[in-house]
Amino acid sequence: MLLRNAKILFNNPVSLELYHMALVCPDIAATIQPGQFLMVRIQDRLDPLLRRPFAVHRLYPNDPPGSFEMLYKVVGRGTQLLSNMLAGDSVNLLGPLGRGFRLPEEKGSVLMVAGGIGIAPLPYLAETIAASGCKGPSVLWFGGKNSADLVCVQHFNDLGFTVQLVTEDGSEGRKGLVTGHLEQWLTQQNELPGVIYSCGPYPMQRSVAEMAARLGISSQLSMEALMGCGVGACLSCSLRCRPPEGTQEPHYANVCQDGPVFDGEEIVWDESSS
Ligand SMILES: Cc1cc2nc3c(=O)[nH]c(=O)nc-3n(C[C@H](O)[C@H](O)[C@H](O)COP(=O)(O)OP(=O)(O)OC[C@H]3O[C@@H](n4cnc5c(N)ncnc54)[C@H](O)[C@@H]3O)c2cc1C
Ligand code: FES
Repeated sequence: MLLRNAKILFNNPVSLELYHMALVCPDIAATIQPGQFLMVRIQDRLDPLLRRPFAVHRLYPNDPPGSFEMLYKVVGRGTQLLSNMLAGDSVNLLGPLGRGFRLPEEKGSVLMVAGGIGIAPLPYLAETIAASGCKGPSVLWFGGKNSADLVCVQHFNDLGFTVQLVTEDGSEGRKGLVTGHLEQWLTQQNELPGVIYSCGPYPMQRSVAEMAARLGISSQLSMEALMGCGVGACLSCSLRCRPPEGTQEPHYANVCQDGPVFDGEEIVWDESSS
């Protein structure tokens, strides 16, 4: 785990609420894995006091060396302050943190599912899978509230993904929830994907995990949680998981250390979430 200042290369709006921020930090760029995260503090400010967790969206090894990009959505005070920062300013980063995604078998097909800002960690995962020589077909199902949520689609197309879009208001792609259309599509496939990678809101993650279990597909889910520290000290990010073999006691994992990526079958879902 490293503590580094990183200079902002650009901080550009992608839509009303979404921003791309590129940073230079060679030590972190050299070590962070897809699905791991960084705790970001806006430099020289005590407000907000706590760091905020963000994934690496894309890595740029050469342009300039050691740079990477985050994609973030403005939802509150911390992300509002982040959106006001300019090229040349710095942020302080703690990371890489947590357990990221495991790469698939070389020949297996890959399915990714994203809901809204859940798209953030998936381009870096997709690039890593493509670079690893995985030859199976790749599909992204991407759902949002409206068309403004559906960013980075061309990048997945360029990596050879087939992209299926869904919006709740029908402004782009199919109308409805991504999980509803996905299940219908999966049941029509001759060959099921080897693995589902998913990131999005809790109810979507639950649907994906349950669908994957019904169809006998393994799932890796990047889970969201409110995080106070990011390093296992404050217990604000606990997630109920299956008890370890041989015990019956409820087991709570820390999303920051044991995740954020969990196997779908590890998680005990909150009944009120469906
Ligand atoms: C491992 C991990 C990686 C993440 N990666 C990204 C990313 O790449 N891009 C991105 O935009 N966001 C990401 N998030 C979510 C991001 O950390 C929060 O949106 C951010 O901390 C909000 O800070 P804020 O001060 O703007 O909002 P706050 O003022 O702290 O909160 C505003 C609202 O957002 C809700 N909220 C805050 N944090 C979370 C959270 N973690 N999950 C769900 N709801 C939350 C609060 O309950 C509140 O309703 C990630 C979260 C985790 C746990
Ligand atoms: S964020 Fe503090 S224990 Fe996970």
